[in-house]
Amino acid sequence: MKLSQLFLLSSILVSIPSFAHAEEATWKDTSLSPEARAKALVKAMTQDEKIQLVHSLYAIPNGPKNLPMPKGALGSAAYVPSIERLGIPAQQITDAGLGVANPGNVRPGDAATSLPSGQILSGTFDPKLAYEAGKMTGAEAFHRGFNVLLGGGVVLARDPRIGRNFEYLGEDPVLAGNIVAEQVKGVQSEHVVSTVKHLAFNNIETNRKKIDMKIGEKEGRESDLLAFEIAIKKGNPGSIMCAYNKVNGDYSCENSYLLQLPKKDWGYQGYVMTDWGGGHSTVKAANAGLDQESAADQFDNKIYFGKDLQEAVAKGEVQQSRLDDMAYRVLYALIQVGAYDHPATKSDQPEDVAAHEAISQKIAENGIVLLQNKQNILPLSTTVKNIAIIGGHANEGVLSGGGSSQVTARGGNIKLKTGMQTWPGPVSYFPSSPMKAIEALAPEAKVKFAAGDNIHEAVKLASQSDVVIVFATKWSAESFDNANLSLPGNQDHLIESVAKAGKPVIVVLETGNPVEMPWLNNVDAVVEAWFPGTSGGPAIANILFGKVNPSGRLSITWPKSLAQVPYPKITNAGQRWNEDDPVKEDKPDLSGIATFNLDVDKANVGYRWYEAKKITPLYPFGYGLSYTTFKYTKITLNNNLSEKNPTITAEVTVENTGKRDGEDAVQVYGTMPDGSPSRLVGFNKVALKAGESKTVSIPLALQAIANYESKAHRWEMPAGEYTITAKSNALSTEGVKTTVHLNQLNLAD
Ligand code: BGC
Repeated sequence: MKLSQLFLLSSILVSIPSFAHAEEATWKDTSLSPEARAKALVKAMTQDEKIQLVHSLYAIPNGPKNLPMPKGALGSAAYVPSIERLGIPAQQITDAGLGVANPGNVRPGDAATSLPSGQILSGTFDPKLAYEAGKMTGAEAFHRGFNVLLGGGVVLARDPRIGRNFEYLGEDPVLAGNIVAEQVKGVQSEHVVSTVKHLAFNNIETNRKKIDMKIGEKEGRESDLLAFEIAIKKGNPGSIMCAYNKVNGDYSCENSYLLQLPKKDWGYQGYVMTDWGGGHSTVKAANAGLDQESAADQFDNKIYFGKDLQEAVAKGEVQQSRLDDMAYRVLYALIQVGAYDHPATKSDQPEDVAAHEAISQKIAENGIVLLQNKQNILPLSTTVKNIAIIGGHANEGVLSGGGSSQVTARGGNIKLKTGMQTWPGPVSYFPSSPMKAIEALAPEAKVKFAAGDNIHEAVKLASQSDVVIVFATKWSAESFDNANLSLPGNQDHLIESVAKAGKPVIVVLETGNPVEMPWLNNVDAVVEAWFPGTSGGPAIANILFGKVNPSGRLSITWPKSLAQVPYPKITNAGQRWNEDDPVKEDKPDLSGIATFNLDVDKANVGYRWYEAKKITPLYPFGYGLSYTTFKYTKITLNNNLSEKNPTITAEVTVENTGKRDGEDAVQVYGTMPDGSPSRLVGFNKVALKAGESKTVSIPLALQAIANYESKAHRWEMPAGEYTITAKSNALSTEGVKTTVHLNQLNLAD
């Protein structure tokens, strides 16, 4: 090598950002704040390293562009390579909120625990269980070497047909926001970044990649965005996923209002990533506040946050400080949850499978809802002699929802050969058979099964039995909404026919949403088991036989029919758009984009709509029966109305007035001085022995009984009298109430 070449080489070496030991000490120093450590890291990074950090690569072979899996990836939704010289771990990014997914068996044979559907988790009304749910999923992710989990979902269920309601947490912002916040904390306690999604108004699945959701600021802040606000402020998730849909004209992932709201108003320090195929631009998105482009190499039209971003920064179209901020936010999240200091590596140690499945089962047992129980037909006696089990593949397993959140259960999923075969299908059952669990609980009984496709055979079996349990199912999945609320196929006819056999009939529903039940008056009991997760079979059996006293409540109002819902007709509901070819679908031919105006329910999502319109649904939000009875006997309020941080806590006394021990979901609703529809302001779950009485302290979410004032840019509680009621569901006229008179209160944003 010539001397001149040596000089050149040494000058190149000098120009690579060297980091002084003092700086390295800063980002490695665990006694310093994540902020200080992340800042020090950004300072030490090259431009290429920053760019590398802000876009992920699809990590499943045979993706939309058929690229090989990136080297170092474990196989999952996405991957960002490590930056070893700075100790920055690779981001191994996996779905999702219900458990660790294994799409297309990319990690051969890797099975995991699936939680029950989101309606069950929120239906527990139990923040402690939500934390346990997150912790279990976080532990399973970490064990497999993942450090970013793409859950939990917190879009409000505005309609009972929506394909992904089973991934979300119901219709109420206070319930959904608080439950997901605990879930996030649980995930992150395992050094795994949790992702709150999909910001925002991803209330419709069909045509989700093009639809433009329209809503005013006040209405948005008081509904879906309130759920996100609670989730983000309380849960402090490392990441947020922006949605596919547009909101008020701009794609969510380049919508500066949506992307700035958490950062500017809620003090959010983490990063915002796109949904897969949700990236549409470089400069607009970066300047709006997007931080990471997901699976950029295969899902978007091009990699917007790669070379293009680097050039945009060089040209000054995106400030260097913005790119630094993107990198900072990703690093902050990794440091904050401990993913930097405790890098996840695939472990070959056995997991505590039994403990994890027990958590999933406990959640199912606490969230499954007993809807009807005529003459206390349930719980069943374990000495019953002849049990007929009909339909729903109950001899084999329990139904699960489809799409990216689908988990592969231990023992393998049972995939139906009928119905949708391509993604988000096939329709899959977890191998947790309710029938086997029933046999185990009633060992002396003859338990016989009829598949239900032959109605004549089913009726014959029913007439020879002492009790009939019909399992009725309705699948739902990501990417499309159900067309109606009917049970598919012959199931209504089957139930009607079996009910005529004159034997007690119990219907167990496994559905992603409420369904119409034309046979309701002809059956004795109805149990809504939603999608009950990988231990769903024993959970259902334990409820049927009273080993567990049901305490789940509806987190979504159950209409009598679609005529009662705010948007009876949703164009294209039931249709799938071209999800198989997202790249083609996202070509910027934006002609004919559908808009969906949320101008009917506005902020009055769910039960508030029914209250405002004086419509009596079949079952309201919060409804659910128990094998015992509860009574609210007293409510008092403790107020601390200081200017800075006003708080009100309700002390609610609840009594178990029945003969069995049980748990009650204590619900507190508030009404504002103008008498606008009430809203859940607080909740908790309490266990009470038969005859026992307890006083529960419930802090009230004051934003739920405040107005968001767009001009003043703050939450205001107008002066006047507020009514605070403890009652057993949102529309109940019973319960105990108290009032409080307030002068105008402004809440900190
Ligand atoms: C879904 C996201 C999911 C992502 C990665 C998208 O289709 O909308 O929720 O996390 O895929 O699988």
